[in-house]
Amino acid sequence: MPNPLLRKKSVQLILREAESGLTDAHSSGLKRVLGVKDLTALGVAAVIGAGVFSSIGKASAEGGPGVVFLYIFTAIACGFAALCYAQFASTVPVSGSAYTYSYVAFGEIFAWIIGWDLLMEYAIGNIAVAISWSDYFTHLTDKIGIHIPDWLTMDYITAKRGFAEAAASGLHQVAPGMDAALAEKVAAWINAPQIAGLRIIMDLPALFIVVVITYIVFVGVKESRNASNFMVGLKLAVIFVVIVLGAFYVNPDNWSPFTPTGIGGILKGVSAVFFAYIGFDAISTTAEECKDPQTDLPKGMIYSLIICTILYVLLALVLTGMVPYTRLNVGDPLAMVFDMRGLKFISAVVAVSAIFATASVLLVFQMGQPRIWMSMSRDGLLPKAFSRIHPKYKTPSFATIITGLVVAVPALFLNLDTVLALTSIGTLFAFVLVCGGILVLDKQPEKAASRFKVPYINGRYIIPVLFVVVVAVIIVKIPTYFKDIVAIETFPMVLFWLVLAVIVVLSYMKKFSLIPVLGMISCFYLMAQESHTNWLRFLIWLAVGLVVYFSYSRFNSKLAPVENEIPDRR
Ligand code: ALA
Repeated sequence: MPNPLLRKKSVQLILREAESGLTDAHSSGLKRVLGVKDLTALGVAAVIGAGVFSSIGKASAEGGPGVVFLYIFTAIACGFAALCYAQFASTVPVSGSAYTYSYVAFGEIFAWIIGWDLLMEYAIGNIAVAISWSDYFTHLTDKIGIHIPDWLTMDYITAKRGFAEAAASGLHQVAPGMDAALAEKVAAWINAPQIAGLRIIMDLPALFIVVVITYIVFVGVKESRNASNFMVGLKLAVIFVVIVLGAFYVNPDNWSPFTPTGIGGILKGVSAVFFAYIGFDAISTTAEECKDPQTDLPKGMIYSLIICTILYVLLALVLTGMVPYTRLNVGDPLAMVFDMRGLKFISAVVAVSAIFATASVLLVFQMGQPRIWMSMSRDGLLPKAFSRIHPKYKTPSFATIITGLVVAVPALFLNLDTVLALTSIGTLFAFVLVCGGILVLDKQPEKAASRFKVPYINGRYIIPVLFVVVVAVIIVKIPTYFKDIVAIETFPMVLFWLVLAVIVVLSYMKKFSLIPVLGMISCFYLMAQESHTNWLRFLIWLAVGLVVYFSYSRFNSKLAPVENEIPDRR
């Protein structure tokens, strides 16, 4: 008898469910209208948001101009994952994303893990977007003369760290000439009201925007899934203006040295940089609305990745060329650089556009999360309330409200760096599993249903040879490397090498396809750059998920353990 933890959903079952109207997309009667251009636009719409309007500042401040190398490397890693997503989307052209794919490739427990993990990409990611939105919003209100008290515009940790930084240089008040971003933090800390000695510091605008977006998603805006061309146009136009206009203010001296903090500094920006690319995978959920998902989806994902990569690299060059990279660690760098040059009008235009651009990303993910929960609930892995459809608005009402709460409340208090890191590690993990899923799918009969296949290049010799070359180079260049990484703080890197060794051996034995393997390795490498504390949080998160699975989902799964019958629906 097969292990029930690994019971799989067959492609046929998923397609039958789709036809009988059990999936989100079919029940809403979607039409096949999207072509390559629309998909590329959708990809750009979902990708360009807080990452480029906000966290690019942090990444550039960590790595200097050399951060462009990280943007390029990350784009390549995402490119491998995009091809794997595309194969799955063409095999299982329904809207469940990585959750559904894992059900096909690996079986139920992995599907659960991915579904649970996607919460990090969607809900936790949206906390980060909301916090970034708030940064632009509050700076804009400041410009028009409405000052929201600083203690109502940020989180406790940011204010505390800012105050500590100022105090370290002997300043316990906002002082003349103090860096504006630092002054806000100090002001928040010293002016915050206190209850029983605890300072009350929270990000009210972040809560506000989540409430607004949740309301919009709740009442159902049909066109919000297909983010309008207007939004894409606006985002591209603003970024274009920043690049072109900013180029005139570049001082090449700021690019020298190009990698002031070395590779270590550049890699500190992994979360922020990877975050900027998240979203291209979201277009795989439109598989049922594509004219020709098998050919158009891969193109749409790759084209949107290429466009975003070019823009990000140019933007990082312009920003680090306009001001010394150390000044860029602010929440609204694109507006700030023009402010510093006295171009107040441009700065205001950028800020207004950023508010809309980031809000549209918020909308995409705030819609995606309840739909993933809905799929999981329909499979019995979550309580049925999560798939309850509102009688009037036809939206997953309960799941939408829970998403709103899960995003809005932490957005009040959490620190941007923490949520960025969690989002990135969670999404990278999903990418690793999707790439791995292709290796499994390749050995299954379902592969026949894939009209788009990741081009097969036999990795049997290439992967071990690459491995040996890389290890040899490391040993020659940094003889103590492998000794140095054996420490608690670097356990993610140790894990990376162990997993890599296993992949290399398996590639040799099973003639694994090269592209998915490179996708797994590059995404895992990026994961391994995350701090050990972030890994611990991530592992705790997964452990909590497993507790839920073993105490609830496993016993309520609708999937028959042996046969893939259409389960009874509630
Ligand atoms: N890539 C998306 C953003 O930057 C998540 O907002």
